[in-house]
Amino acid sequence: MRRALELARTGWGRTHPNPMVGALIVEEGRIVAEGAHAEDGGPHAERLALLARGKPPRPGATLYVTLEPCSTAGRTGACTDAIIASGIRHVVVGATDPNPAHAGRAFEVLRQAGIEVTTGVLADECRDLNLIFNHWITTGGPLLATKSAVTLDGMIACRTGDSKWITGEPAREDVMRWRRLFPAIAVGAGTVMKDNPKLTARVPGAEPWCPIRFVFDGLLRSVTDRTMPQVYTDEHRARTVVVTTPHGGMGYVRKLRELGVQVWILPSPTQRVSLGEFRRKCAEERISGVYFEGGPTLVSQLLRDRQIDYLFAYRAPVLLADARAKTMLTGLRTERMADAVRLADVRHSVIGDDTLTRGRVVYPERMFVDETVFGLG
Ligand SMILES: NC(=O)c1ccc[n+]([C@@H]2O[C@H](COP(=O)([O-])OP(=O)(O)OC[C@H]3O[C@@H](n4cnc5c(N)ncnc54)[C@H](OP(=O)(O)O)[C@@H]3O)[C@@H](O)[C@H]2O)c1
Repeated sequence: MRRALELARTGWGRTHPNPMVGALIVEEGRIVAEGAHAEDGGPHAERLALLARGKPPRPGATLYVTLEPCSTAGRTGACTDAIIASGIRHVVVGATDPNPAHAGRAFEVLRQAGIEVTTGVLADECRDLNLIFNHWITTGGPLLATKSAVTLDGMIACRTGDSKWITGEPAREDVMRWRRLFPAIAVGAGTVMKDNPKLTARVPGAEPWCPIRFVFDGLLRSVTDRTMPQVYTDEHRARTVVVTTPHGGMGYVRKLRELGVQVWILPSPTQRVSLGEFRRKCAEERISGVYFEGGPTLVSQLLRDRQIDYLFAYRAPVLLADARAKTMLTGLRTERMADAVRLADVRHSVIGDDTLTRGRVVYPERMFVDETVFGLG
């Protein structure tokens, strides 16, 4: 199953909105065929492994697959049918299909055909691999995740705004890997104007990749007559989508479109884009995950609106110990620990000198907004 997971990871960032899946066939203790789902609409991993075998598997062969095989005929036909037809008598599965309409259905189908089914092998790792797909298939909408890099005392910048760099190079490379996984990245206009980031995924040894780049800019302040931010002018500008409100000014919208940049004008009574509307539009466009990289204004609004589904926090062994240093998340009035926002399915990893804590966001029943921080509604 570890090898099947490695195969699944070859589809990292390429299979949306489908999951990454790896499969292999073992005969007499040896791997004789392998397959991985490579892209949405492409053949499933189990079918590719069977195809790679090139002949019927030997009696006693076992198929390992990281995700429960599909049991309904979609674009590629039910994999359970292909497995039954192949003559394989033992199937070992990692994660159960998270879709409640299917969960465990394939196990029934295979068992009824006389196939032995072993489930839950490295289930946790197999499930974690597809955190975007799992959310998409169960909610019908995108996984909205935020990333921050903070000091040991939770700060993202000095009182002057200086923030380069908080974490070390290995952690910054890890961010690139997650950028490569998510179909889209998002930042606020403040970050675009201050840092002028590239927002591409630069993973060592791999071709540079440009996800969809969302810029939240309710009044189009980042569109200027002087030097434009590079996400509006570089070779990937057609992958940039400025998310704005009807209050932004049509002249700026035209200017962006002339440059080849896309613009989403979403209904909003204020100058801030409604994140619920954004989520709905992403679902409509089949964008299954968005990785928000800041800045503090945008992600604090996400938190206040209970719209962060998943959180990545890199923490560096650095202290600022300055009450006027800047934090990423503000705007709540949390008076009791019972009202704190918590993470579930938490994972910790050590990356160089830094750590990454990530997990699903669980909101408390009561959340009080500090109106002195959020004046804009
Ligand atoms: N350490 C880290 O992980 C990290 C990550 C990212 C950024 N940063 C730092 O954060 C600083 C920038 O902070 P910031 O708070 O100004 O950044 P920001 O959140 O990127 O940008 C804030 C601006 O974006 C627009 N905006 C935010 N939410 C919006 C929404 N829902 N709809 C429409 N527009 C929206 C608003 O423009 P209007 O005011 O015009 O409405 C707002 O003022 C930079 O110094 C950067 O280096 C640090």
